[in-house]
Amino acid sequence: MNSIEIKHLSFSYGKKIVLNNINLSIGNGLYGLLGKNGAGKTTLMKLIVGLLPKSKGQIKVCGETDPKKIRSVVGYLPQDFDFYPDMKVREALNYLGILDNMKGSQLNQRVDELLGLVNLSQDQNKKIKDLSGGMKRRLGIAQSLLNNPHVLIVDEPTAGLDPEERIRFRNLLSDLSAEKIVLFSTHIASDLESTANRLGILDNGHFIYDGSVEDLLKEYSGGTYETIVNRKDYTSFKSQYIVFEQKELAEGILVRFIHYGRPLAQFKRISPNLESAYLMKIYDRRR
Ligand SMILES: Nc1ncnc2c1ncn2[C@@H]1O[C@H](COP(=O)(O)OP(=O)(O)OP(=O)(O)O)[C@@H](O)[C@H]1O
Ligand SMILES: [Mg+2]
Repeated sequence: MNSIEIKHLSFSYGKKIVLNNINLSIGNGLYGLLGKNGAGKTTLMKLIVGLLPKSKGQIKVCGETDPKKIRSVVGYLPQDFDFYPDMKVREALNYLGILDNMKGSQLNQRVDELLGLVNLSQDQNKKIKDLSGGMKRRLGIAQSLLNNPHVLIVDEPTAGLDPEERIRFRNLLSDLSAEKIVLFSTHIASDLESTANRLGILDNGHFIYDGSVEDLLKEYSGGTYETIVNRKDYTSFKSQYIVFEQKELAEGILVRFIHYGRPLAQFKRISPNLESAYLMKIYDRRR
């Protein structure tokens, strides 16, 4: 069984504490790391991969604590993945494979396999600068899988993708998580709603949630509402409630919003989705 074990991990950039006493234990499956901009997701991932020196604490991946050994079992797709623009897709994978000590028919076979897996076989002779954002991200996944890692760490892989490419990408990660740990960061809750076995919410360098999607939805099952607001009342409505979805209708503005405390009898209760439960968790802490 693969594992990531993190104990009392802290990290600071200068005087700024970015991660504060993180404890986390993950096994196979897709673990979604959710948090807004600046929450510390990239920092945590870079620490696990060994690209940053930790300030305090322990990181163990598949039983290894030595960053070099950890790197040999981990595949990583950085948030800002890019590669030589004039290189062709297949050439890039070949090149990276050689750096990974692969060669000859073993390398050729692996590159074929990966191109198929990420659906880039048809585009293997395209230059990287001619790839779409989604194709480039898929090339990024292929490079992270070259050494058949036990753990795959992907940092916001769905940012900027169109809905179809997003779904394709999520499904690919979900397939890979059958035999690996896939640690997938995003700030878009819906990315994780149907794919994540477990979810961690990072806020300001702390985990404020670590558990299943279902349990989070249960925790906030009572606080999500829907109503139609007159246009003239909308500003005042927005100052009272946390609106997470809105839609223009002929009769006014349809709003979905969250509210803590006693149920509001005048509004229609609706089931929370991961987005609203996530927002409730974040705002709950700040109340
Ligand atoms: N090289 C750096 N030097 C100083 N501060 C940094 C550096 N990189 C990140 N930070 C700070 O660390 C905090 C966490 O950043 P991090 O990139 O880990 O967040 P994130 O959750 O990945 O955000 P995003 O969703 O925007 O990618 C932020 O406050 C950021 O400003
Ligand atoms: Mg980031």
